[in-house]
Amino acid sequence: MFDKLFKKKSAHEQTDIERRFNLIGRVGQGSMSRVWKATDLKTGRTVALKVLDKEKTERFEARFRGLNKPHEGEIATSLHHSSIAETTEFGWTTEDEMFLVMDFIEGVSLSLLVDLQNDEMKRFRLRYMIQIGEALSYLHAQNWIHRDICPRNVMISEDKCVKLIDFGLVVPNQPEFRKPGNRTGTAAYMAPELIKRQYTDQRLDIFSYAVTCFEMYTKRFPWDAALTLDAVLQHMNQPPEEITQFVPGIDSQIARAIMKGLAANPDERWQSAADMVAVFREAEARLVKMAREAAAKNRALAPPPAQPAAPKLPPASQPMPAEQQGSAADDTDSPQPAAGKPGKRPPGKGRKRRRPDDDIDLTAMFAED
Ligand SMILES: Nc1ncnc2c1ncn2[C@@H]1O[C@H](COP(=O)(O)OP(=O)(O)OP(=O)(O)O)[C@@H](O)[C@H]1O
Ligand SMILES: [Mg+2]
Repeated sequence: MFDKLFKKKSAHEQTDIERRFNLIGRVGQGSMSRVWKATDLKTGRTVALKVLDKEKTERFEARFRGLNKPHEGEIATSLHHSSIAETTEFGWTTEDEMFLVMDFIEGVSLSLLVDLQNDEMKRFRLRYMIQIGEALSYLHAQNWIHRDICPRNVMISEDKCVKLIDFGLVVPNQPEFRKPGNRTGTAAYMAPELIKRQYTDQRLDIFSYAVTCFEMYTKRFPWDAALTLDAVLQHMNQPPEEITQFVPGIDSQIARAIMKGLAANPDERWQSAADMVAVFREAEARLVKMAREAAAKNRALAPPPAQPAAPKLPPASQPMPAEQQGSAADDTDSPQPAAGKPGKRPPGKGRKRRRPDDDIDLTAMFAED
């Protein structure tokens, strides 16, 4: 009773989320929040509703007292990029917890695909790496530092597109936020300068991005022990394992780009995410071109069919041309799109933009383990 009477009045409008949303089910339990799939009764949309843990968020924000740091809701709603989950609104619950309303992503966490290392992962990982890099370049261009790039914070939608989530640890790229001391993040992905409590900048995200790429190829970290801060401290002064040791057939340009992102000294790393992703894009274009040329050569060498049969199917449902087909079973480095084998297409549902590799089974082209 007294509690109610004397409860400090909140400075902001509060929303009864149980009235505003129909909570369909819990989809995530992050370390800082609870996330539901929900129907927004105001708009009728299916959304992801993220409610931040009040205490943990306050403890985190207390680090920046007096610095006027924007909070997660303000940061997330300011971001608009095809590879970033769109946050449409934020507010406060009746318990005074911050909530975020996001487009709901039907898909899986990249961390699941890293663990599975299935055909889908092998086939699309370079595309995913490029899209993560594009999201990161955008975020950096908006003058933010993400500080928690890792597969757990990347979702892959059903139409095989990257959606970067979780802007809970983001800070502005300004001197007062780059001072040593704030060691939040995920240990295994933390750049040495962060762990050693040195001055940091956006290049710490490049390190985490490179660890993520390394894992996408190898299912392991670039160092043996990387799970706790102490373990990370121990190995920090050793060079990372060479990615080629685990994936001997990996394209050398891609391998070099990932290893450069792991340089302990930020001056020896890629200086911008845009530079790193440009190399991946160049590699993608080269591999696609090689695959197309190899397919054309195969076609030229193949004996003509004895009796050219008239197409049985209407044009819209014809199989893909031979140069657009590939073999998911082929694990070699050299591009070998196998003419005549059935082409595998990613489910086309809702695909917004075409990329050079959309028609080609990249498994056949990229170095596999
Ligand atoms: N827009 C979304 N659509 C669908 N699922 C989502 C969405 N956003 C988050 N999730 C789910 O909720 C989980 C937690 O989200 P998020 O990473 O933002 O929370 P967090 O508490 O900040 O996490 P962390 O443990 O990384 O600190 C995600 O791993 C994902 O499964
Ligand atoms: Mg997260």
